[in-house]
Amino acid sequence: MTAEPAVKSPLPVDLHPERLPYHVAVIMDGNGRWAKQRGLPRVMGHRRGVDTLKQLLRRCSDWGIGALTAYAFSTENWGRPLEEVGFLMTLFERVLRQELTDMMAENVRIQFVGNLAGLPASLQTEIDRAVEQTRQNRGIRFTVATNYGGRQEILQACRAIATQVQAGVLQPEDIDENLFGRHLYTADLQDPDLLIRTSGEMRISNFLLWQLAYAEIYVTDTLWPDFDEGEFHRALQTYQGRDRRFGKVSS
Ligand code: IPE
Ligand code: IPE
Ligand code: MG
Repeated sequence: MTAEPAVKSPLPVDLHPERLPYHVAVIMDGNGRWAKQRGLPRVMGHRRGVDTLKQLLRRCSDWGIGALTAYAFSTENWGRPLEEVGFLMTLFERVLRQELTDMMAENVRIQFVGNLAGLPASLQTEIDRAVEQTRQNRGIRFTVATNYGGRQEILQACRAIATQVQAGVLQPEDIDENLFGRHLYTADLQDPDLLIRTSGEMRISNFLLWQLAYAEIYVTDTLWPDFDEGEFHRALQTYQGRDRRFGKVSS
């Protein structure tokens, strides 16, 4: 166990605590480019990216954000070179094992979304262990999207609902947004308020297609390994300057 609790970083004074997003989602993009710029193999960018995520989780927790969801591996990322995919799977497994003690100390509740059955068995074991051990924690909810695809998530929900209709336990008219949402991987999680994407790409790449319906989108050119506390602060400042109308008119 960590003997001393880490020093908490206070919320910057220009941010309003009552107007923070409850749920922040991040598309952690640009690891490969970060490494390439330094003449390093792509995987070194992934390694640095883990440190960035750890710092962001801590910052979110310190600043009173309720939930953080990070896109770690998409269903499309299997199309990358075998070597890179293998490195990532091993990295996820090792990081999970190493970080469990700190997550317990910091009261983090970790969970995973995606087609977990398609992951290597040894990674599934680490995932199960981390989820089980942190289940009772009441601090920040940390969700990792691994082997995650938004379309695939929607399809599995459709199949589950169709099966219930076929069995006669559900009527087609019972299917509403609420019921549908409860069949998604994110069933007990509020929709993201803020989506951050690094590395300047203006797309959502199959991430949380249903849940992002009214998220505020923030894109920065900064590559993920360089996304530090100052960058996150700027993202929150921008968020707090937005007028979230949800289709209505400003009040
Ligand atoms: C994001 O960084 C990490 C994963 C998708 C796993 P990339 O690896 O996509 O980095 P770029 O976009 O090639 O720079
Ligand atoms: C999105 O990044 C997936 C993750 C960050 C895990 P990608 O690098 O895979 O997305 P594209 O290919 O640029 O759309
Ligand atoms: Mg990328």
